[in-house]
Amino acid sequence: MGFPDNFLWGGATAANQIEGAYLEDGKGLSTADMMTAGSPTLKRDITAVIEPDRYYPTHEAIDHYHRFEEDIALFAEMGFKCYRFSIAWSRIFPQGDETEPNAKGLAFYDKLIDLCLENGIEPLVTISHFENPIGLQKYGSWENRKVVDFYLRYAETLFEHFRGRVTYWLTFNEINVMSTMPWNAGGISSADEAVKMTAAYHQFIASALAVKAGRAIDPKNKIGMMYAGHFSYPNSCHPDDIQGNEDFMHKMMFYPDVQCRGYYPNYKLKELERQNITLPVLPGDAEILKEGTVDFVSFSYYMTHVCGKNTTGILRGLNGLETGYKNPHIERSAWGWGIDPKGLRYALNYLYDRYQLPLMIVENGLGAADTIVDGKIHDDYRIDYIRQHISEMKKAIDLDGVPVLGYTSWGPIDLISASTGEMSKRYGFIYVDLDDEGNGTKQRIKKDSFVWYKQVIATNGEDLDWKEA
Ligand code: BG6
Repeated sequence: MGFPDNFLWGGATAANQIEGAYLEDGKGLSTADMMTAGSPTLKRDITAVIEPDRYYPTHEAIDHYHRFEEDIALFAEMGFKCYRFSIAWSRIFPQGDETEPNAKGLAFYDKLIDLCLENGIEPLVTISHFENPIGLQKYGSWENRKVVDFYLRYAETLFEHFRGRVTYWLTFNEINVMSTMPWNAGGISSADEAVKMTAAYHQFIASALAVKAGRAIDPKNKIGMMYAGHFSYPNSCHPDDIQGNEDFMHKMMFYPDVQCRGYYPNYKLKELERQNITLPVLPGDAEILKEGTVDFVSFSYYMTHVCGKNTTGILRGLNGLETGYKNPHIERSAWGWGIDPKGLRYALNYLYDRYQLPLMIVENGLGAADTIVDGKIHDDYRIDYIRQHISEMKKAIDLDGVPVLGYTSWGPIDLISASTGEMSKRYGFIYVDLDDEGNGTKQRIKKDSFVWYKQVIATNGEDLDWKEA
């Protein structure tokens, strides 16, 4: 009973949210580099060029590029078994369309991966996490089938270069974000549904080709899909609310359906037909999708939604979707995200029932403002949030028999928020001295949650109690 012995405890980050060094060692500009800082009430701007008087939080981020040794040492001190991070495509192929990779870009990840392995930390690599080389804009980014070839060259370069050192891969972070924030997901600035569905189609083909290539290069590779965990309850047992909820879930679930089953579900094909959208299918694509299904399903889990007959189907925002309903039975974070630990057990069962594939929770955590008191950060609220989620995950494993490979909490070290560009929305067990305007020493400070998570990992999830120091 309890967590399996080889359970992958750890944390997850994304290159553009931590590395900084945005033009160093030959790196090209990426879609993330064009996003200014925002706030819960101020949308981030996407500028065509870097404007000198604007603040772009990813440019320096938390300077992990220069401080990765200190950061990995802290993860190792917590006992991490696994570290999920992304490789910046624009470090390896600065414009996206080169034929030869940038050696200095690969060298950075050589050092990072070797350091993880020396510390007994299994690397879990996201090949594309909200970061596309800006050089791909001239092709129309993912709207153009050519980008599939560029992505494949990039993915094959990684599989070959890191063969034997990296086993766990994710092809795209939160692939369903193409429907909600297409710029983040694929450098798409249009809100047009046909454009988004074309881009998503190309990402499915790219992912399937990468799965096939990754298996051919090293049969030991385990390549997964990553779903932005939108899970929704019907507003009531009224049949119209049930249907409204199902309609919403279909808008999200067709992504994992394609990647796990290898074909578009009928409900999606019918919807596309009604919308007069024709997918850019080429001969042989059906076989590619079928042969390139994933080995496991990973997902982020922050909240649940409520949908019903009044849910319009308009999707807004990364995770804070406006569905027209609020759940009165759960609390909300300071950023308005509904906190629902029990929903995690539901989500794990929901996904396993649907796909019968091993699961991994690759993002979960509480974005909250922290205060330093006498040099310490007492983040009992974060401990409480994660403790409750781990308890529910344990129930899914113990009581329901769901196979869960691992749990990597989001942002084990404070990092730049993807949705708002803020630093003050902190997720970390490790505090970083940096504010929303880029001021601060970037010094790392352990929070109370650091000590607690270390104990959780040391006891393989058996002791979740926080013993105040
Ligand atoms: C996920 C993304 O959607 O949520 C991360 O994969 C992101 O990149 C995380 O940071 C939390 O969202 P936010 O907006 O609080 O940073």
